[in-house]
Amino acid sequence: MAGPVDNYAVMGNPIAHSKSPVIHTLFADQTGQSLRYTAILVDVGGFKKAIDEFFENGDLGLSITVPFKEEAWRLAEKRTSRAEKAGAVNTLWQDEHGLLHGDNTDGLGLVADLKANNRVSIKGARVLILGAGGAVRGVLEPLLAEQPADVVIANRTRSKADTLVECFEDKAISACGFDEIEGRFDLVINGTAASLQGEMPPISGHVIDQGTCCYDMMYSADETVFNRWCREQGAGKTLDGLGMLVEQAAEQFAIWRGVRPDTRQVLELLRNEMA
Ligand code: ATR
Repeated sequence: MAGPVDNYAVMGNPIAHSKSPVIHTLFADQTGQSLRYTAILVDVGGFKKAIDEFFENGDLGLSITVPFKEEAWRLAEKRTSRAEKAGAVNTLWQDEHGLLHGDNTDGLGLVADLKANNRVSIKGARVLILGAGGAVRGVLEPLLAEQPADVVIANRTRSKADTLVECFEDKAISACGFDEIEGRFDLVINGTAASLQGEMPPISGHVIDQGTCCYDMMYSADETVFNRWCREQGAGKTLDGLGMLVEQAAEQFAIWRGVRPDTRQVLELLRNEMA
């Protein structure tokens, strides 16, 4: 007779379009791990109850997505240092003493997608990041750990970029408004929610040249508004956030199961499915 199933899930609201169940199920098949991974729609206001029930049931690990990442951070009893800095948690699990652990794998996912999948080096690079919300804060620590020469955070609301920079006492990081960006950059990352509205942050094309890699943290079947604009400005490379999604999931899988899956195969499959 088969033993109890190892259960994992993603919690969010909305959740219907989450690719996490497909990604983690492909990882499990590939690594020969026996587990079940589902998507759970959680009422706003019902998050604590939902995670308590999940772990009381003996289930093992959770991915957390919008809008619960900050609440997950508050509820985690132990946080990794990168999650601490991120102010948000996207991975939860319980240890043998019943203690709730939280991590944030988004930044690792971004760095892995840039370095391993696309051979984009961050060390010594001039990096421009557009946006200063939760998505950007979530990735800053692992990005800074790669020792870029310079990280400039540009945001529509300048004060939010200032506040974010204050959280990271790293000399290589500074804040500005969209109309104050100076020079060209090796890497330009869009972490604003502008793409969701089909808009482009109003920045000058001078930040981009043939040597620039542009990365939109959003992804879609068609080229994103940001990536199209960057290509038109002459960017050497444009990438979207699908690779980051798969890589952050691989980090979660490694935390829960102790084995890191091969992401390339899964990324190719998702890309073909979206086409
Ligand atoms: P998330 O968790 O996705 O980062 P958020 O914390 O609400 O969401 O942050 C959204 C980010 O996108 C902010 O940097 C926001 O700029 P403001 O701080 O000025 O609000 C940015 N943003 C949203 N819509 C935008 C638009 N149309 N143009 C430029 N920036 C936009």
